[in-house]
Amino acid sequence: MTAVFLNRARVLIAIVGLTALAAVSGGCGSSAPTATAPVASIAASPASPSITAAPAPALAVLAGDRYFGTALELPHLDRDQAYAALAAEQFSQATAENAMKWQVVEPTRGQFSWSGADEIVAFAEANNQLVRGHTLVWHNQLPGWLTAGSFSSAELKSILKDHITTEMSRYKGKVYAWDVVNEAFDDDGTWRESIWYENLGEEYIADALTWAHEADPTAKLYLNDYDIEAIGPKSDAWYNLVKSLQAAGVPIDGMGFQGHFDLQYPFPTDMAQNMQRFADLGLEVAITELDVRVNTPATAADLATQADYYEQAVQACLAVRTCVGITVWGFTDKYSWVPFTFRGEGEACLWDENMASKPALTAVQAALAAKP
Ligand code: XIL
Repeated sequence: MTAVFLNRARVLIAIVGLTALAAVSGGCGSSAPTATAPVASIAASPASPSITAAPAPALAVLAGDRYFGTALELPHLDRDQAYAALAAEQFSQATAENAMKWQVVEPTRGQFSWSGADEIVAFAEANNQLVRGHTLVWHNQLPGWLTAGSFSSAELKSILKDHITTEMSRYKGKVYAWDVVNEAFDDDGTWRESIWYENLGEEYIADALTWAHEADPTAKLYLNDYDIEAIGPKSDAWYNLVKSLQAAGVPIDGMGFQGHFDLQYPFPTDMAQNMQRFADLGLEVAITELDVRVNTPATAADLATQADYYEQAVQACLAVRTCVGITVWGFTDKYSWVPFTFRGEGEACLWDENMASKPALTAVQAALAAKP
């Protein structure tokens, strides 16, 4: 972690801390509390029962020098006051769940649509939240003009460079870290057959990182993927790639572990060890898209196991000194992507669809509070 990061986090903690103290029971569904009034009333009556009934501090506060963030989605941020209030109150980092993806920002070639991304960046700024940019080079959520176009390799290369440069320049100085390349490998550790790999070969990764560094030299440049929490063929592929990129002098700062867990599979108990080997290469590491899906409807036992998965994920990050933070992929079951993507699964978040807290939230709070 850089000094800049720590200082920024401390400022943020001071601010978010006041907000958290002011939060009303559970925080869920309440409008954003003011920073001063409830703090003053606590100070004025130290023995009042409201102190013992005080809610847990915000996740952002409990996380200390690390950030605790969430993916944010539109239009909920505009239309659902309880959603916006909880997002502002609990988190110290924001990722656009979709608003910064290629399909959204450049639906027509050369015509950019920044309104959603701008709004999320403005929300984060207003609430002293770091922004993780997501994502520049991916095989998914690409606009039709790009996937259906028959471009030469040279054209594709220049399209990719333009995209990275344009998007990063717009948010230069406002985005703390970018997921420059997302999901480049298949589960068996072979290269994913994407428009990028098929047309540009594996050099597209080094090129993307180099262009990204030119566009915003202070942004942290991340590689990011799912199902790489355990040591195995896919995480090995990334590990070897990072080493070869570093040997070639390619700028790279971090490795993002998405952390989309599923109760159908055991929790990868070597997650901390795996993250540590990337940290040992000199990288920051982060959990970038944490959620834990279950077969729906979840039983009480499922929710208890889910809490245990969340806790283990948090503990894995806490065990690695340069694990800079944790981001959940949405915080409420009301809007989670999971039921739309995984048939029969859902209830993956820390808060339920009524924005009431779940056992997983308590477990995460406890794990953060217990950190050394
Ligand atoms: C998902 C979003 O949550 C959905 O709303 C969208 O329809 C598809 O993408 N890995 C990633 C994220 O890097 O961008 C994905 O987000 C989830 C998996």
